[in-house]
Amino acid sequence: MEKILVTGGAGFIGSHVCDLLIHQEKQVVIADNMSSGKHEHVNNMELFEVDITDAEKLEELFRLHDDIDGVIHLAAQSKAPTSIKAPQYDANININGTINVLELTRKYGIKHFLYASSAAVYGDQQTLPITEDAPVEPLSPYGVSKYAGEAYVKAYSRMYDLNAHVLRFANVYGPRQSADTEAGVITIFIEQLLNGEQPVIYGDGKQTRDFIYVKDVAWAVVTCLCGQQTAAVYNVSSGEETSITDLLHDMCALLDKPYRPQYGEIRPGDIEKSYLDNSKITKDFLWQPVTTLRDGLRDTIRHANA
Ligand SMILES: NC(=O)c1ccc[n+]([C@@H]2O[C@H](COP(=O)([O-])OP(=O)(O)OC[C@H]3O[C@@H](n4cnc5c(N)ncnc54)[C@H](O)[C@@H]3O)[C@@H](O)[C@H]2O)c1
Repeated sequence: MEKILVTGGAGFIGSHVCDLLIHQEKQVVIADNMSSGKHEHVNNMELFEVDITDAEKLEELFRLHDDIDGVIHLAAQSKAPTSIKAPQYDANININGTINVLELTRKYGIKHFLYASSAAVYGDQQTLPITEDAPVEPLSPYGVSKYAGEAYVKAYSRMYDLNAHVLRFANVYGPRQSADTEAGVITIFIEQLLNGEQPVIYGDGKQTRDFIYVKDVAWAVVTCLCGQQTAAVYNVSSGEETSITDLLHDMCALLDKPYRPQYGEIRPGDIEKSYLDNSKITKDFLWQPVTTLRDGLRDTIRHANA
């Protein structure tokens, strides 16, 4: 596979995926509307500014690049709180936008497709760690729209012999993650601690998450794009459960700051406990996370200080 289209390639995860593809000497074309993507993430890469909900303009890209070998679809409205405030907006991008990308993939005869889904599709599960065959019980419109995207990907794979995979990411963190109010908790804590502010824990801090370093995620994405199995779903996770309290303790220690959180009301749509079993992707693709939380936090802090 030589030429890869990455939707959302200027975003947090997408830009790391593009870096890895370039490192592997692939040709990369990015489709991004730059709503949260950043030009400095993708310097010197081919960027086509387009909204994936605009099928006509998106087709210009496919016409211009009629030799694309694979599509990595990461462009999304990626924030659960936004989806609660604006569910139609979320669905339009995550469902209709995904259909547009799939339709053009089919129309232009592209054979490989990779879809970024989320642990948000699982909601709160009783049995941990969560395996791929756990019931799907999203707690936000975002979880619903990501799952709808999965269903379209699977249907297209069956109908058109598309070699497609679905990856359900746990909580991804690392350099370039935006520090806006809905971003990943690690980026928000780093910014608050570096600014001398008291980090806010929503709830009692005993809620758990599975934090996976962005470069490990990029490696999983690129590895699975080349796979031969069709329409399989894989968790991409560290396989480890970390409470928000433990996370903040570790971060305060790394930054040499006192542990003094403020506590806020638990937010609607927040999951209580979550960590994902990653043995299926390890078995099928020999992928496994190589970055410990400590090392990933150090690297993220180093970049935030740079
Ligand atoms: N960050 C996480 O922890 C996490 C966890 C699970 C799943 N995911 C999924 O991974 C993917 C990437 O997430 P991210 O964290 O890098 O988010 P991000 O917001 O940094 O990246 C999304 C990118 O898509 C672009 N985009 C958004 N709407 C678009 C549209 N309508 N048309 C074209 N481009 C558009 C944005 O400009 C941005 O560059 C998403 O599909 C998200 O649902 C992320």
